[in-house]
Order: sequence, then structure tokens, then C-alpha cells
Amino acid sequence: MLEVKLGDITFASPITVASGTYGYGNEVEGLAEVNRLGGIVTKSVTRQPREGNPLPRIAETPSGMLNSIGLANVGVELYCKEKLPFLNNLKTQVIVNIAGSSMKDYLETMEILEEANGNHIGYEINISCPNVKEGGMEFGVSCHMTEKLTKEMRKRTSKLLIMKLSPNVTSIEEIGMAAQDGGADAVSAINTVVGMGIDVKKKSVKLHTVFGGLSGPAIKPIALANVHKLYKVLSIPIMGLGGIASAEDVLEFILAGSHMVQIGTTNYINPNIGVDILQELEDYCTENGLKNILELKGQLKS
Ligand SMILES: Cc1cc2nc3c(=O)[nH]c(=O)nc-3n(C[C@H](O)[C@H](O)[C@H](O)COP(=O)(O)O)c2cc1C
Repeated sequence: MLEVKLGDITFASPITVASGTYGYGNEVEGLAEVNRLGGIVTKSVTRQPREGNPLPRIAETPSGMLNSIGLANVGVELYCKEKLPFLNNLKTQVIVNIAGSSMKDYLETMEILEEANGNHIGYEINISCPNVKEGGMEFGVSCHMTEKLTKEMRKRTSKLLIMKLSPNVTSIEEIGMAAQDGGADAVSAINTVVGMGIDVKKKSVKLHTVFGGLSGPAIKPIALANVHKLYKVLSIPIMGLGGIASAEDVLEFILAGSHMVQIGTTNYINPNIGVDILQELEDYCTENGLKNILELKGQLKS
């Protein structure tokens, strides 16, 4: 009922967890039934290790949070040694998220991962991180760069290739089409929305970097709008994300045109949310006579 396919890959359900909110799956050991998820998308990995941005790099907001983590990670070489063995033992589908600051960075990171005997079934390419100057946004705001990067990555892998799009652009449809033309199997949308927090008592900004990425339920309407815009113009599937916190939210994203979804910030409240909602989704299918949940995809009444 909940099983879905993306390319040749079968996922037990359309529910996956979003990059940067679940570590590599190991951080939630004992707190979540990782292997019952449709899949996990790992924290962005880059060519070189990164410390990330100085503190404070997290701030709460009404119905959401601001972050400017700045792609802190161990770098792809250590990642292959330390993280892949754990990921290889998972019984859920693993999608490795890659970020970079130049074409060379992105491609070398992918090449190293391709050589590394990982069981991962695909890549999500972060061209949409708003929190670092060199976080790929120059790719994510340009159709030309998006298509070029997608084409080069396509040449290097036969695994799933998913381009992660930013809402901080004039036309997400044009960037999505560039990813499609470059040979992507899917797009994911959305990454965080540029935001800022102010502490009135201190008369200062809440994040060291001034601006950060807003996530959580506050951005759900923005995410739904972007997913729906993409659904209207693309023929490749969409992984929808942004503020999902319940089974009903998942159904909204599927109605808007999502093929699969990712849950991010809500994992900080309940790391097992992606599993806890499965029964409710199955019940919805039964009650509405659906053999598969994707019969609902894009079925919005006008
Ligand atoms: C603390 C934090 C770290 C994140 N790190 C990454 C990252 O490394 N790579 C990436 O592509 N997205 C990253 N994201 C963005 C999420 O994957 C997701 O696109 C965004 O938070 C919207 O989904 P949500 O509202 O369900 O959290 C991060 C988000 C948060 C809150």
C-alpha cells in the first residue's frame, strides 16, 4: 500500500528523513526504528572536512528553527572510512547527500563515493544551502550551472541522482527543468528559506552569520507551493519536504504532486515520526479504497 518506486529502486514507503536532521542514522540509534523508514538522506558531505560556522548557529522561531550550521562534516575521505560501514549495515535505502563549492569539489566527492563500495542507492545533490558562501547556491540559482553540474554528475553515476532545490530563487520551475534536462532522476524541494532572528534585549542578531535557513512547520505552505509549481512543469518525480510533522502533512505533499517526502526538523521533536505515521497513512489508503498511496499524487480538485 505504501511501497513506492523511484527509478528502479523500491522503497518500503515514501517516507524518508531529510539531510542534516538525522546525522548518518547512527545518532538516533535507540531512539528511532531507522530500518522501518522508506529511506534516509545523509548529512551533506563535502570534498574537504568542514568545521561549520561559529556559534550560535541555531535559533528557535515560532513553528520552526533557524540554522546556519554551515555544512559541518568530516569530509568525504573520512566519511567513506567511518560513516559508510554503518550506513552499509542499514536495512533501509540510503541516499548520500553531497555539497560543494565548485564543480571540481562536487565531482571529486562523487567519484570518491562511487569507488567506495557503499550500498547507497543514490545521491542527493545540495545546490541550495543558504548558510555558507561556498555552499553550492551559485549552482542552485543558475539554470546553466544546475544543468551543467547535473550532466557531469550523470556521467559519473548510474545510481539515483536527485538535485535538491532552493526556494530562494525567482523561478524554481526553471531550475527544476534545468536539473531534468541535465539527466536527474528526481528533484527534492525545498531546502531552507533564508531568514533572520533578532534578540531585542541584546540588540543583536541570533545567529553569528546574521542570516540562516528557516525550517519546520513555518515553511510548509512555501514548500507546498514550490512542490506544486514543480509538479506542473516536470516529468521527473519530486521528493517534497519542508515542515512535515504529521501523516496529514504527508498527504498534502502527495496531493500537491510529491512522489516521496522527507521529514526534517520534526525529527528533533520525535526522531521516530517517520515510522509513527505509517499506520495512519495505511489506514487512510484503506478507508479511501487506495491500493497504493501514490494514486493520490497530484489529485487536487480545482
Ligand atoms: C539543523 C539542520 C541542518 C541541515 N543540514 C542540511 C545539509 O547538510 N544538507 C542539506 O541538503 N540540507 C540540510 N538541511 C535542510 C533540510 O534537509 C531540509 O531541506 C529543510 O530543513 C526543510 O525541511 P524541514 O522543514 O522538514 O526541516 C538542514 C536543516 C536543518 C534544520
